[in-house]
Amino acid sequence: MLLRKGKMHRFAFSILLSLATFRCAIADLVSCAGIVPMTYRSENITIADFGGVGDGRTMNTKAFKKAIYRIEHLRRSGGALLYIPAGVYLTESFNLTSHMTLYLAKGAVIKATQDTSNWPLIDPLPSYGRGRERPGGRYMSFIHGDGLQDVIITGENGTIDGQGDTWWNMWRQGTLQYTRPNLIEFMHSSSIIISNVIFKNSPFWNIHPVYCSNVVIQFVTILAPRDSPNTDGIDPDSSSHVCIEDSFISTGDDLVAVKSGWDEYGIAYGRPSSDITIRRLTGSSPFAGIAVGSETSGGVENVLAEHISLHNMGVGIHLKTNIGRGGVIRNITVSDVYMENARKGIKIAGDVGDHPDGRFDPNALPVVKDVTIVNVWGQNVEQAGTVHGLRNSPFTGICLSNISLGGSSRPNKTPWLCSDVSGSAVEVNPWPCSELISTHQTGACSVPVAISLV
Ligand SMILES: *[C@@H]1O[C@H](CO)[C@@H](O)[C@H](O)[C@H]1NC(C)=O
Ligand SMILES: *[C@@H]1O[C@H](CO)[C@@H](O)[C@H](O)[C@H]1NC(C)=O
Ligand SMILES: *[C@@H]1O[C@H](CO)[C@@H](O)[C@H](O)[C@H]1NC(C)=O
Repeated sequence: MLLRKGKMHRFAFSILLSLATFRCAIADLVSCAGIVPMTYRSENITIADFGGVGDGRTMNTKAFKKAIYRIEHLRRSGGALLYIPAGVYLTESFNLTSHMTLYLAKGAVIKATQDTSNWPLIDPLPSYGRGRERPGGRYMSFIHGDGLQDVIITGENGTIDGQGDTWWNMWRQGTLQYTRPNLIEFMHSSSIIISNVIFKNSPFWNIHPVYCSNVVIQFVTILAPRDSPNTDGIDPDSSSHVCIEDSFISTGDDLVAVKSGWDEYGIAYGRPSSDITIRRLTGSSPFAGIAVGSETSGGVENVLAEHISLHNMGVGIHLKTNIGRGGVIRNITVSDVYMENARKGIKIAGDVGDHPDGRFDPNALPVVKDVTIVNVWGQNVEQAGTVHGLRNSPFTGICLSNISLGGSSRPNKTPWLCSDVSGSAVEVNPWPCSELISTHQTGACSVPVAISLV
């Protein structure tokens, strides 16, 4: 039986609708679960038992150290949960240990001291050769983990507050001696879960897993003022199997930036970031939403970012590297992105970021290939995008598909600009640069469906 036109439309529409619902259902179902097993601890200790006082004035450094020492020396196996009840716990920076859960109850705040004079210094990361912003060592992160396994930071959306304004002011006044501390850093660690916690006012980058594997970050909220310097949200760095999902980030710098070391130090260390998933992220920043770089000297591969919603942005999607970086950036997929009020939608560039020192090798050219960006929709985006490869290392396999960045109260002032790039573009509005449309590569737009996470 022939369906009449109206019915036909309705029929087609309902199929589309159910396909869309199905797609969303899949997007909602897919999760980081399984990458790191959830562990239940055999002991439950509370910070109060170690002298912890949540009055916002008492120093709790000793209480945290004693409690964590206790977990480190448990007689039974099975680890312990360190319970932080409601209250404001002021403390200096401290180290975590393996097989522990740091549990922040509703209304619990772990707050960094503003007395920065005794802040511990640690060695620079070998893949950076020096502190990221000052030569020499660097201040240890507020909450630190080195060489750990099986650590969970979770609870009922309690807060880890870095009280970063002291540090931001030192940066602004040029009085910083060493590189500012991250709020949380894990080094050489695996099986880490960070969930249901609020991170506030980090002195520098918020969450920095470096030389790590199997890291899950979900249901977190990361907040720092828009004008706070270098307060990146989450920076997976020379790490693999990192999964970030269902989070809100609003800071003064990139929301998520995948990195892998800096120039000659990162090349020598040679540890890539790989198999990184970022999904269902919402946020706002004067810099980038989803970024790769600019420190990518160990290489970055197999990144999937999907279902991302960005508001009041500098750049929506930013891949950035530089001459002297070396490193291969490949197999990067960004899909289903909505952005509103952005200076630029998409930027892929080979001239971003500074160098650790003058010893970088100008012949160490980065390689950027197989970058797929699909299903991007923008409102009030001033410039759709720019793709600038390097003359002696053109970016290849750059594929743009189903991208609409023209929706605006005022039309895009500047069209796409490209150089030293090849790839393809399908259904891109405004019409992208000729470099991308003229050099069709068959198969360049095939979207890898999933990333192996285990
Ligand atoms: C741990 O102990 C605290 C009280 O000290 C209690 O409120 C909390 O429910 C306990 N948590 C678990 C997981 O047993
Ligand atoms: C904390 O960890 C850092 C880095 O591993 C180490 O240098 C420092 O001595 C540790 N601090 C304490 C108090 O254990
Ligand atoms: C914590 O916040 C997240 C993100 O906003 C939310 O999804 C989750 O339900 C909250 N969890 C608790 C225990 O309140």
